[in-house]
Amino acid sequence: MPKLPKISGVALLKWFARLYVRPLESLEKVVGTVGKVVSFDGGKYQKLHLVSDPAYIKHILKTNKANYKRSPVIKALRPLLGNGIFISEDQEWQSQRSHLKPSFHEHVILQFESTIQEECDILCNDWKHTPGIRDVEADMEMLMLRILVRTQFCDGIEVDYKEIHRAHNEVLSQTSIRNHKIKFYANRFRKFVGFSTSVTPQSTAVTYLDTVARHIIAFARNNRKKCSYWLNDMFDRHVDEAEIRDQILNFIFAGYDTTASALTWTLYCLATNTVNQNECRQEAQNTQSTFANLSKLQITKQCFQESIRLYPPVWSIHRQSMAKDDIESQPFDAQTYFMICAYTLHRDPDYWVSPADFKPERFSSENMRGKAFQYIPFGQGERVCIGQSLAIMESQLIVSNLLREFRFAYNQSKPPQITPGIIMKTRSGLLLDVAPISLNTDGM
Ligand code: HEM
Repeated sequence: MPKLPKISGVALLKWFARLYVRPLESLEKVVGTVGKVVSFDGGKYQKLHLVSDPAYIKHILKTNKANYKRSPVIKALRPLLGNGIFISEDQEWQSQRSHLKPSFHEHVILQFESTIQEECDILCNDWKHTPGIRDVEADMEMLMLRILVRTQFCDGIEVDYKEIHRAHNEVLSQTSIRNHKIKFYANRFRKFVGFSTSVTPQSTAVTYLDTVARHIIAFARNNRKKCSYWLNDMFDRHVDEAEIRDQILNFIFAGYDTTASALTWTLYCLATNTVNQNECRQEAQNTQSTFANLSKLQITKQCFQESIRLYPPVWSIHRQSMAKDDIESQPFDAQTYFMICAYTLHRDPDYWVSPADFKPERFSSENMRGKAFQYIPFGQGERVCIGQSLAIMESQLIVSNLLREFRFAYNQSKPPQITPGIIMKTRSGLLLDVAPISLNTDGM
């Protein structure tokens, strides 16, 4: 069995410099020129394996899943996530997942329809009053945060959405893999010079989000008829307040920025592929956007799936091995750190014909057979995204609502720059030209 390609010493410094400046392009280059599984070997401090090989991914996320737990990048979020579903392990995680699962059953999701519709109407009215160049990324983030709060926590509650989003971003900006490394060395330096401080922008943001969670719990307890399925279930089971707080913050962490990113990139892909945009609009205009009609929005669904192939919101999934293990006959030590890269996997020419092209027809059910570990925008295995069906259903509904009323164009000379933190976002917003469709003049 040949040895795994390893990058170390001066080569490692060179790659780190490239990764720092152009992370995603450089990762693609590593996979294309060095290998699909590559060891970045920083000696005794830092060792990381980049994984972009479906067989490895299957082993880590499914076949021997018990050996691969949340990695330090995610564990660094413990002040925010406490011991909620995203970060817990073993029996504790199993119990949380089985209690939360019923909230994602179709009959519960169907009840969200009117809220999603109302929130789309609010956004559409805003766009009609101030059309033209809009930061669609910022608009999608607000839209999805409002929908999350109203459907997953409690309808009718008043919260400061902008402040929640700002605080959430503050926490995320400190927690990318890149920042994790920077913090690692900065902390060593601080300890070395004997200086440390406990109040940071991140801790202040966590304290604010903590207050928001307490406010949601208090409001929901007094408004049980308006509060979500899973919150009601927790109140019925007399779960203690700390656990409910953790779960609320886990949902804020996992449930809105991800879908907002997916919608942002979908609108970007449609703005730059007008034939596909018109096809989706045709679908939207031929049917009412309701959950019952989702099967009539198949092209829209395929465009969404193709967009998150090219721009997976969660572009990397992190795990750490507990015991030593062999993967595809390669031995790995305990405590090995794996970064599974959905971005490079989704753009690998060995698995996708013309990978850089936007071709939604790839996602017809015949074409996707046997690709479970080549397409992982929602992860895979038992920790696959619990909100996957909800995210796809609500995105179909939202995209069709928006396309029925607006045309989207991207008029910048260069593609938007990407900042791959924990979630794939643009560096300075996605500016699209949003033009209302007048039924008389557009004739569609
Ligand atoms: C397009 C939108 C979304 C994307 C791309 C996405 C992606 C992911 C991915 C890749 C994971 C697995 C992470 C890992 O294995 O380390 C995950 C887990 C999770 N997601 Fe999503 N997600 C989306 C929407 C949602 C929504 C709408 C919710 C809830 C309202 C949600 C809640 C969660 C939770 C709670 C987990 C942790 C599951 C567990 O560990 O058991 N996600 N998501």
